[in-house]
Amino acid sequence: MTLESERMALIRADNVSRVFPDGSVTALRNVSLAIYEGDCVAILGKSGSGKSTLIHILGGCDDPSAGVVYWRGEPVRGQEEWRRLRSGSIGIIFQEFLLLPALTALENVEMALVGKGHSAQARRARAADLLGMVGLGARLDHLPANLSGGERQRVAIARSIANNPQLLLADEPTGNLDSVNSESIIDLLLEIQRRQGTALVIVTHDETTAARCPRRIVIKDGAIIEDRRLDEMGGKETAAPRVDVLESEEQVGSLA
Ligand SMILES: Nc1ncnc2c1ncn2[C@@H]1O[C@H](COP(=O)(O)OP(=O)(O)O)[C@@H](O)[C@H]1O
Ligand SMILES: [Mg+2]
Repeated sequence: MTLESERMALIRADNVSRVFPDGSVTALRNVSLAIYEGDCVAILGKSGSGKSTLIHILGGCDDPSAGVVYWRGEPVRGQEEWRRLRSGSIGIIFQEFLLLPALTALENVEMALVGKGHSAQARRARAADLLGMVGLGARLDHLPANLSGGERQRVAIARSIANNPQLLLADEPTGNLDSVNSESIIDLLLEIQRRQGTALVIVTHDETTAARCPRRIVIKDGAIIEDRRLDEMGGKETAAPRVDVLESEEQVGSLA
């Protein structure tokens, strides 16, 4: 196995700080971390510790006050480049789902496929496949308002993986869901991570969720106070996702 230090990081934050404009809040202080291809990382920390700020910066939705973010070894420069990364290599999922309310489930997913050289028909077919994959094959024409919270998050997940990202960032993806829905959303994310080899970063408050991720990062007061892999934690095994959320290998194949 290649040593981690020799592997090329997918994304790397180097000494990143974020001070909010009035200067009174330092949300992140000198944070350095690297996420590798196929990584599966839980980020834990109390409310207000800087988790969302870190996710925003790793997704280019916010700029660090100091420090640099590298994508595959190259510093990411400017919003144009971040937009390009987010429309292909990086998928993001938020606690609030952030679906467009006037668009159906199908159209919300299709939006992610615009400008990628697909015909309208191919976009629709792909969006329908993706929604089938996340278990919403029978909800294509529903507006977000007519979907449950769990279903809305599934639409957001389908949208986030539409372009086969190498990195999926999820900021408390189950924060607005009950425990049953939460578990199945985490199952789905872990299934995607495992089957597609997508690097997955999940911000969570839930120790059970964190225990299912082989790498664990803890943030306190804007600083990383712990970053370790499960095999360093006494050989505890990662629980494999229990339900086969993706219905068939064929459907998974269609994603590649
Ligand atoms: N836009 C903002 N302006 C000022 N302060 C902010 C802003 N966003 C977040 N903060 C502050 O930065 C700190 C970290 O916030 P956040 O990253 O959202 O924490 P977490 O996601 O861990 O709950 C908090 O003290 C929060 O109040
Ligand atoms: Mg947050």
